[in-house]
Amino acid sequence: MRPKVTIVGAGMVGSTTAQYLAQRNIADIVLIDIVENLPQGKALDLLEAGPVLGYDCLVSGANDYAATANSDVIVITSGSPRKPGMSRDDLLRVNMNIVRSVVEQAAPLSPNAVIIVVTNPLDAMCHVALETSGFPAARVVGQAGVLDAARFRAFVAQELGVSPRDVTACVLGGHGDTMVPLPRYSTVAGIPVTALLPQDRIEAIVERTRDGGGEIVRLLGTSAYYAPGAAVAEMVEAVLLDENRVLACSTYLTGQYGITNLYVGVPVVLGAGGVKRVIELELTEEERAALHRSADAVRTLVEAMRNL
Ligand code: LAC
Repeated sequence: MRPKVTIVGAGMVGSTTAQYLAQRNIADIVLIDIVENLPQGKALDLLEAGPVLGYDCLVSGANDYAATANSDVIVITSGSPRKPGMSRDDLLRVNMNIVRSVVEQAAPLSPNAVIIVVTNPLDAMCHVALETSGFPAARVVGQAGVLDAARFRAFVAQELGVSPRDVTACVLGGHGDTMVPLPRYSTVAGIPVTALLPQDRIEAIVERTRDGGGEIVRLLGTSAYYAPGAAVAEMVEAVLLDENRVLACSTYLTGQYGITNLYVGVPVVLGAGGVKRVIELELTEEERAALHRSADAVRTLVEAMRNL
């Protein structure tokens, strides 16, 4: 039997994740949504693309969590997306209740799964998933850094006229306006970006990365889904194939970087069983202060949830 991946939420992010994952042909996929017929329809459409694209994994859709039993990975995309003028944080109350309800239903049926949270505000929603599931923190991880790094990589590649495949990026912090792209640790084929671009261009790229989600919301009127879906598929693959990928993920920190009991984006080794370890980078005073500012923003949201 192939591994099984449940994707909760058959909206644009969920279905795009399913599409990219199906193309990898590494797991059977179950799409879940509360909207009747939606996950069934999207799943059937994806299944019917298989003969043309050459994948033969099963893709099915359901409204009932029974279909998700014994999943190896559960991806949570459900929730309200951003509308123009909204920050990711504006979604706190509505999405907290949705994520809690999803995890209450999905986690007991797949007690050994790795949960990948995508719903915003991302880092706060990881706390909800951790508390509700009772899973060890290594098995509850948030998608954000892969997406934020992808945006940074795309912008650097465009600026230099090089392939984005040769650009690596390191983005720390919460998945919000305070995220901390680290040009010093971002490279083009091993050459630090700081050696290739003037400071003002780097600053512009950092700013555009921070606003990357907002830029798409302003263009589309709703949240991004191609790059987020691709980022999730990469994380799912890392877990299923035990790849030990080094990816920035929202991870529960227990003292690393001087941050305790909080989900914040940092580089981790991601493989079977989720987060195997956190990679601690040496930071300058300025970078560390920016990371702590970002962590404080996450903590404010986590505390706000207690009063909702
Ligand atoms: C973004 C949303 C998914 O960054 O948070 O596009």
